[in-house]
Amino acid sequence: MTRIRIAPSILSADFTCLARAVTEVAEAGADWIHVDVMDGHFVPNLTFGMPIVAALRRITPLPLDVHLMIEAPERYLEAFARAGADGLIVHVEACPHLHRVIQQIRELGLRAGVALNPATPLSALEEILPDVDQVLIMTVNPGFGGQAFIERMLEKVRRARKMIDALGRPIELEVDGGVGPENALALVEAGATVLVAGAYIFEAPQGQPAEAVQRLRKAIQPQ
Ligand code: DX5
Ligand code: ZN
Repeated sequence: MTRIRIAPSILSADFTCLARAVTEVAEAGADWIHVDVMDGHFVPNLTFGMPIVAALRRITPLPLDVHLMIEAPERYLEAFARAGADGLIVHVEACPHLHRVIQQIRELGLRAGVALNPATPLSALEEILPDVDQVLIMTVNPGFGGQAFIERMLEKVRRARKMIDALGRPIELEVDGGVGPENALALVEAGATVLVAGAYIFEAPQGQPAEAVQRLRKAIQPQ
């Protein structure tokens, strides 16, 4: 059975205690750390870049899943690889030469992922799917943590799973945005293998990040 990976997004973490936040979720069983890089152009928000990836690399052995919400990501692939990223995800909407960008990521020895905004049809994957290790379905419009899950994306995840299964390659299917215990099981049943969660884990009013990771894990246990 595929291990469902939980990937806390540090976007909503307390940046004054980032090391503690990461250690807590790692000890609670998080599988990857999701790192949201935004450039203020592709998305209407700015976050952080290579130095944060490099800092995370020093404090955790967990794979760093770097989500590039930036225009022309090819400018920075090498720098993110050097900083210690394990996987780089680029948006199809930001890459007119997507095939080349994916090859560049693979040549760097990293997992290559493609992300789709909610309004981008799955047909955008058709020609690139055989070349990627990971597909990320945005379940909110990218740019901010803490937004509401777009229900219609559940059906998109189901269709993406069918496309991947038809290809017969072990491609991870990741969902990102508004994920929490209330929709996690439905997403896994629809075929998701990686659950990104930011606000639910790091802004949990009812407890600590570690407990939130455990609750998310519990929500996806087969009954
Ligand atoms: C949104 C980012 C997400 C975000 C998810 O643009 O790509 O990774 O942090 O956060 P939540 O879980 O808060 O929706
Ligand atoms: Zn993300």
